[in-house]
Amino acid sequence: MRYKGIIFDLDGVICSTDEYHYLAWKALADQLGIEFDRQINNRLRGVSRMESLEIVLEKSNKVYSDAEKAQFAEVKNALYRELLGQMSTADLSEEVEATLNVLRNKGLALAIGSSSKNTPFILERIGLAGFFDAVSDGNNITHSKPDPEVFLKAAQMLGLPPAECLVVEDAHAGVQAAVAGGFDCAAMGDAKDDPRATWHLGTFSDILMIR
Ligand code: BG6
Ligand code: MG
Repeated sequence: MRYKGIIFDLDGVICSTDEYHYLAWKALADQLGIEFDRQINNRLRGVSRMESLEIVLEKSNKVYSDAEKAQFAEVKNALYRELLGQMSTADLSEEVEATLNVLRNKGLALAIGSSSKNTPFILERIGLAGFFDAVSDGNNITHSKPDPEVFLKAAQMLGLPPAECLVVEDAHAGVQAAVAGGFDCAAMGDAKDDPRATWHLGTFSDILMIR
């Protein structure tokens, strides 16, 4: 493989927590009587919690105060963490686990680059706490994707320049962030056909076909 390091998005790439984000936002939107569907949910991929909330509230005709918004974000996060709490090592797919081990055995540096503040909790639930050489997440950034900050910090932690790292993403905002940071990007899931991506993955293990 031409890269020395790989920076993985977490939600929707390493595990299916993107579905839990959807369920938690859907529950909040239902409580507030706001229209919310999977199409709107796709716009939340890679975007921070508060920015996601703003997108959810676009369909509301009410004006909410900052205090109300903070409370809505907390309600959503509590629902989300309830779902995360039910996760276990069984939620790390055999495909992802096997692929990560092959990449590790090839000597590649492996990192997480996620906008989520719940990253440490999720990695612990699925048995990957301590696995990655670097974890850059929502707790150490000031700008979320499509800003490249989270990936630039991950590359810095690995001690590699962006040109030597590949970013793996399922979000259009994430692909945009990778490109803005000077990274090649392998896109999958919702972002699979994003024309800005260098590689288009049908499934996670297709990373192993990249030379
Ligand atoms: C990203 C998700 O990984 O994390 C977004 O794709 C989410 O949908 C963002 O809003 C922030 O997550 P959290 O866990 O900090 O609310
Ligand atoms: Mg994602």
